Amino acid sequence: MADIGSRKADHLDLATTGDVGFRSRTTLFECVELVHDALPELDVAAIDLSCTVLGKRLAAPILIAAMTGGTERAQRINRELASIAEERGYAFGLGSQRAILKNRESLPTYGVRDVMPRALLLGNLGVVQASKLSTEEVRDLVGLVQADALCIHLNPAMEVVQAEGDRDFRGGLATLERLNSELGVPVIAKETGCGLSGSVADRLRARGIRHVDVSGAGGTSWVAVEMHRATGANKSLGQTFRDWGIPTAASVGLMARRGFDTVFATGGVKDGLDIAKAIALGASAGGIARGALQALEAGGRAGAVSFFERLEGELRTAMLLVGAKDLAALRQAPRLVRGELADWLTL
Ligand SMILES: Cc1cc2nc3c(=O)[nH]c(=O)nc-3n(C[C@H](O)[C@H](O)[C@H](O)COP(=O)(O)O)c2cc1C
Repeated sequence: MADIGSRKADHLDLATTGDVGFRSRTTLFECVELVHDALPELDVAAIDLSCTVLGKRLAAPILIAAMTGGTERAQRINRELASIAEERGYAFGLGSQRAILKNRESLPTYGVRDVMPRALLLGNLGVVQASKLSTEEVRDLVGLVQADALCIHLNPAMEVVQAEGDRDFRGGLATLERLNSELGVPVIAKETGCGLSGSVADRLRARGIRHVDVSGAGGTSWVAVEMHRATGANKSLGQTFRDWGIPTAASVGLMARRGFDTVFATGGVKDGLDIAKAIALGASAGGIARGALQALEAGGRAGAVSFFERLEGELRTAMLLVGAKDLAALRQAPRLVRGELADWLTL
């Protein structure tokens, strides 16, 4: 059985260069058309991308989503991306903190607060691990990394394809409810590439959960990642379920009408136009994981910075071209929702 360190190394390698996208399933952002305004009456330089998420001011609605921790390479990636988040006013998510539970010496690989003293920092733990810990133990994990909020990730599809993965998912909702009421920092229910449905949203809302990261289908397929690592029956299971999940745009639309305080739109967000569409559908911010990692690994810090500059430029341009001077106006912008996305939103 692979230990956490070698699994994390496999994940980073596969996410950087592997064939881990969805095959035919897309985010469905292509089904959203924002309507062009030929008379925007705006100065591009005055368009305001800022917003408040989980009580902290962001200069732009961008989350660098949870990826890693636990190894030296993870430490370098976390610190580089976290410092970019601080510099540019984004939110940043640490990868699963499970490794700290196994080995306290891995804590420095999650240590980003010195390079990110102000920006919104999200801790991360799987729901199955969280269900085995007391609230005090989870609070300790949050405190160790000085996170502002904790993502509890839900990843049943990935786990069942992983040979060493979890198989018993009972008690997840009760764990989310307990942590949400006892932890003392906001709890975010986060998928990992398969999206959140309207029914899950209703169950979360009924238990008082107010923040979600949809992490929908159409970007990184974690079933595909585990399929590459698997052998035998697990590999074949991964091949069958590689494209499983709810497209990101559909999941955002389904969350938006349920009144969550925070909706992160993660999963296959590839450019600033996707972020604009996500915000128009009701997201608080767009999240990017693999694209940020690839930009960093291919081009170093400068590569990652130019990736985010492009994203912001595209978002600003989309806002100009729909005549939206700020994100509140973008949420009201006229749009057309077509095809499969329209079908999802009637669910
Ligand atoms: C290398 C890598 C490691 C990840 N590890 C975690 C994790 O530990 N916890 C988690 O909640 N999500 C994890 N994710 C999932 C991402 O946060 C994100 O939800 C998902 O990859 C979809 O976004 P994307 O299409 O932009 O990659 C990981 C993603 C990548 C690429």
